[in-house]
Amino acid sequence: MLAPVHRWIWSDTDRRIQKLLRFGETETDGGRDILRAAEVTSDPLLRRLYLEHALDEFRHGVLFRRRAAALLKVSHSHLDSGFHGDWLAPGGHGLDDLQVDGESDSDMLAFLHLSEKAAASRFTVYRDVMQHDLLTRAIFEEILHDETFHMGYTLTQLARVEPERHKRHLWRARLSRLWKAYLRLASGLAGIMGSFLLTIQYFFLLAPFAWLAKRAARRECSGWTPVSPGRSDSLDRQY
Ligand SMILES: [Fe+2]
Ligand SMILES: [Fe+2]
Repeated sequence: MLAPVHRWIWSDTDRRIQKLLRFGETETDGGRDILRAAEVTSDPLLRRLYLEHALDEFRHGVLFRRRAAALLKVSHSHLDSGFHGDWLAPGGHGLDDLQVDGESDSDMLAFLHLSEKAAASRFTVYRDVMQHDLLTRAIFEEILHDETFHMGYTLTQLARVEPERHKRHLWRARLSRLWKAYLRLASGLAGIMGSFLLTIQYFFLLAPFAWLAKRAARRECSGWTPVSPGRSDSLDRQY
């Protein structure tokens, strides 16, 4: 349903570069967190899978950054801080919400499964709207392949470590993601409302304030003015 919006967001080269750079950061940060998960788990099979997963995420980060660098060379654009539609078209995983220490293997796997599922569905949309940039499209295609694998192995492993209660873990992780999505949306809306209110204040409050300031300035006497005798005593303290 949002495909036209995504097509518009990705159509601008500057915005595409910014987004690819940010996606690269998200992937690398996610890889770092999964590497930490490999350190803290006591399950040897999970440790091996997490290590492979972390390497994949680091590679995704490199792919995104290289593509952004190639586009930057060709476009000679200047990276600015304009609108990038981050809350409309966020990075793949939402792995930035990950808290590795203190999480059980099952909670970790449930969180990872949902994050990878979200990544796979977002990257499918981004790949489909990228007809105007076939090289970026090929990168999304390649990464999508890995994300689908991550989505599958995390579910299989969750069912292995928690055969009875794996669905409950998934629901808990879903509710937590929903709450975080609500917070993200609310902060996006708060940003828009803040800009709107500040613009109104600028146009409706600044003009009367400037008029009052000018009127007060006109009432001020110019030049030296006499001071009342009580205020012109010699100074006997610092302040
Ligand atoms: Fe990834
Ligand atoms: Fe992934």
